[in-house]
Amino acid sequence: MSVISIDKKNTAPKPPAGIIVNHLSVNYREVLALSDVNLIVKPGRITGIFGPNGAGKSTLMKAMLGLVSHSGKVMYQGKPLVHQLEKVAYLPQRSQIDWTYPANVWDVVMMGRVKKTGWLRQFSAQSRQIAKAALARVEMADFSHRPIGELSGGQQQRVFLARALATDADIYCFDEPFVGIDQKTLGIIFEVFHELANAGKIVLVVNHDLGESIANFDDLILLNQRVIASGTRQQVFTDTNLRQAYGGQVIYFTDAA
Ligand SMILES: Nc1ncnc2c1ncn2[C@@H]1O[C@H](COP(=O)(O)OP(=O)(O)OP(=O)(O)O)[C@@H](O)[C@H]1O
Ligand SMILES: [Mg+2]
Repeated sequence: MSVISIDKKNTAPKPPAGIIVNHLSVNYREVLALSDVNLIVKPGRITGIFGPNGAGKSTLMKAMLGLVSHSGKVMYQGKPLVHQLEKVAYLPQRSQIDWTYPANVWDVVMMGRVKKTGWLRQFSAQSRQIAKAALARVEMADFSHRPIGELSGGQQQRVFLARALATDADIYCFDEPFVGIDQKTLGIIFEVFHELANAGKIVLVVNHDLGESIANFDDLILLNQRVIASGTRQQVFTDTNLRQAYGGQVIYFTDAA
């Protein structure tokens, strides 16, 4: 006979895994950018935020990270996400990065270690090892002394991916990381995303390419000022949903799902 013992310490309800967005709305003065967004972003999955230009994709990511003022709640493991930003790596849309910034590749990647180490303290050997491994992972180890402004778009994006990896975060947020990159970089970025998701991380990616790379996403959020649909790629990527989000603006291939 087997005896089932109930461990009383484990009976407290666990906070839900993932990021829970509740009734989130954003207004930029008179412009309504997002209206009553409700979502769950799950760990262990690659989640895409899709929608046409101006749909509010970047705004959703920024509002989740407390970078634009909003109403509603964004919770992670039972607490507001804005109080846990040390667990987040965020790569803004390219247009928001100053590419003339006079830093070399190594400095940019080491910035990923600042939250762990603090600005004024010396980076540890472990931090340097982590940064080195991150650069090697994106195949940029030979470029560490090069100024970031002198690299190709794809190389720059890989360096920023390495910086994100070096932070050793739980939540990775990327805004349009595929713009202006080559096929090799595209392959590396998706490999890294899959590795992060397999390690149980949250991987949230703004994208608007509805081509074949969509097959890399596990879950989708289809946005146009409000959530048109969210869930698994198969649930969301339907003609009806895409038509609602994009209207007649694009040609898309539901076969890719
Ligand atoms: N700082 C701002 N001030 C005023 N309006 C803004 C601001 N940022 C964005 N908007 C407006 O809010 C809406 C959503 O913008 P957002 O940048 O989130 O869209 P997006 O889906 O990321 O678009 P894109 O695909 O072009 O990057 C748009 O109408 C935009 O013009
Ligand atoms: Mg955007």
